[in-house]
Amino acid sequence: MQDGLIHLDNVTRLYTTGSRQLYALRDVSLSIHAGDFVAIVGPSGSGKSTMLNLIGGIDKPDTGSVWVDGVRVDVMSENALAKWRGANIGIVFQFFQLLPTLTALENVMLPMELRNTYSDQRRPRAAMALERVGLAERATQLPSELSGGEQQRVAIARALVNDPPILLADEPTGNLDTATGERVVELLLELNRTGKTIVLVTHEEMLARKASRIVRVRDGKIKEGNE
Ligand SMILES: Nc1ncnc2c1ncn2[C@@H]1O[C@H](COP(=O)(O)OP(=O)(O)OP(=O)(O)O)[C@@H](O)[C@H]1O
Ligand SMILES: [Mg+2]
Repeated sequence: MQDGLIHLDNVTRLYTTGSRQLYALRDVSLSIHAGDFVAIVGPSGSGKSTMLNLIGGIDKPDTGSVWVDGVRVDVMSENALAKWRGANIGIVFQFFQLLPTLTALENVMLPMELRNTYSDQRRPRAAMALERVGLAERATQLPSELSGGEQQRVAIARALVNDPPILLADEPTGNLDTATGERVVELLLELNRTGKTIVLVTHEEMLARKASRIVRVRDGKIKEGNE
């Protein structure tokens, strides 16, 4: 067992491309407590997405360990991970990752298929999640028929639909105008008030300042503080 709801213990993620080695993360330790709203900020390429992917079990570290709610995530099998993720974590990816042949509503329904949600509950729950992000009217449209900001919000609805205790969001406002971006952050703050633990990656200092804690990443290392 480790400290915190989320714990990265001395994690290193090393990429080898040809003869070149690059540390996406180097000896990083980080604890995030239940109910925290953590903003991760840092320059492009500093390791922010890598950090989120490790927490969500999408990627594995080369050394060190990743713990979420007392469970060691980095040693789990893909099958176990998919199930675990469905119950515990909602992820908003940096590049949405919506399925192009499914409507907005069907995309939002996907995470419920991994869990044994009763099939007659899936549509209404997905519709509610879309309503929550202001997209009730777009339910039957394909991703290609939505604006970038709308696709972003569908991705957020999909991350919320299983009501997970932890939400990981990678630049969820990156494609939104200022007003829509602020609405998304308000939504995250509201979710945090209802008890969800939130890890938000953002380039925008203004948004990061709304979080209860800022973690700064640079060259694969963490530097905490408000400056
Ligand atoms: N599959 C890969 N192969 C090789 N290098 C990679 C790979 N994925 C990421 N990297 C490198 O690891 C470093 C960290 O990448 P990461 O995606 O975590 O950065 P980031 O902080 O999220 O950047 P951005 O703000 O641009 O999204 C980068 O230098 C990147 O080039
Ligand atoms: Mg990134």
